[in-house]
Amino acid sequence: MTHHDEAQAAGAGPVHEEHEPAKGGGGWLSFFAGLILAVAAGWIIWQPLLYAKKTQPFPFNHVAHVEAAGLTCEECHKFDDMGRFSGAPPVRACLECHTWEDRQNEDSEAETAFLNEFVTKDGEVKKEAEWLIYSKQPDCVYFSHIAHVKMGKIGCEECHGDHGKSAAPRPYYENRITRYSRDVYMKMKMTDCADCHTRRQKPENNACFVCHK
Ligand code: HEC
Ligand code: HEC
Ligand code: HEC
Ligand code: HEC
Ligand code: HEC
Repeated sequence: MTHHDEAQAAGAGPVHEEHEPAKGGGGWLSFFAGLILAVAAGWIIWQPLLYAKKTQPFPFNHVAHVEAAGLTCEECHKFDDMGRFSGAPPVRACLECHTWEDRQNEDSEAETAFLNEFVTKDGEVKKEAEWLIYSKQPDCVYFSHIAHVKMGKIGCEECHGDHGKSAAPRPYYENRITRYSRDVYMKMKMTDCADCHTRRQKPENNACFVCHK
């Protein structure tokens, strides 16, 4: 028995050796596969630990307003006479077109839900909508839309992607440590701003005091 086993082991010897390099390769392969899995698992576990998922106060529908209702972006995201940007509209701005008295569509459940939550029967604001701003910068950062949109002639989508074409806002992720939006880290970092200034031949805007006043 023992002898037979030994013979088999010996017989398997060269075969085993022949497979050694392939096995070595497999070892590296599984090492990398393991590494990738570990990184992926780390990411999946780390993400929810680092970021709190939040939802917007109301699932506002851009497509319904821009495509179906034919509104322009600047009807809701206005510039005032001083060139200041209004940002996301307050509920008061929605009342121009949506009140219990004067609805857009009696059959729209979404409109009824909006009116129930935010508008009184007398057409007053019942509650403000605290929109979560995906691109919100730290307070120490100075950013003006008029310089970029009017002077720089840069389209909204270049910085905001296709949010203006969304049927509902995506979830908002807030960094639990800094309280900043995840978008700041993903695509609105200091280097992202500076890269575009360099690309657009405006390197004079890359001095610290230009963005940090
Ligand atoms: C009827 C009013 C209305 C119109 C028209 C409108 N928006 Fe908005 N927009 C909103 C409201 C309300 C929010 C806040 C909720 C949200 O994030 O979707 C918002 C948020 C945004 C944001 C999110 C900014 C951030 O960082 O959080 C972007 C970008 C935006 N709008 C772009 C556009 C563009 C581009 C257009 C034109 C194609 C447009 N909007 C037309 C009402 C409007
Ligand atoms: C200038 C007029 C105007 C303004 C301002 C406006 N809306 Fe609308 N809204 C419309 C029209 C027109 C429709 C109908 C679009 C369609 O035909 O489906 C609509 C549709 C809706 C609907 C139902 C469609 C859906 O699927 O969500 C909701 C809810 C709504 N608006 C909420 C808002 C909110 C919230 C604001 C403020 C941030 C706002 N609207 C500002 C004109 C306006
Ligand atoms: C050059 C990049 C850039 C362009 C172009 C741009 N934005 Fe922004 N937007 C930003 C940044 C950065 C912020 C955050 C500003 C802050 O926190 O001070 C922002 C914030 C916003 C907000 C939220 C502001 C608030 O506090 O309520 C809205 C709404 C918005 N942008 C819509 C638009 C629309 C509509 C256009 C096109 C007309 C546009 N943006 C063009 C970079 C840009
Ligand atoms: C897609 C390109 C682009 C991106 C992204 C961009 N900028 Fe700019 N920025 C410009 C251009 C172009 C100008 C010059 C506009 C002009 O004067 O014609 C400018 C000008 C400026 C100015 C000087 C004008 C003023 O408002 O005082 C500041 C400050 C500024 N940017 C801050 C920022 C910050 C902060 C960010 C990132 C959150 C940013 N920019 C992202 C293109 C960009
Ligand atoms: C083109 C605009 C721009 C310029 C120029 C710029 N910054 Fe920034 N800075 C930002 C933006 C946007 C952020 C927030 C996002 C981030 O942390 O990357 C930031 C964040 C920071 C922070 C972290 C603040 C916080 O609360 O997290 C420090 C510190 C800082 N910048 C220092 C500097 C210094 C020093 C310089 C000059 C060498 C400089 N910045 C030049 C745009 C700019």
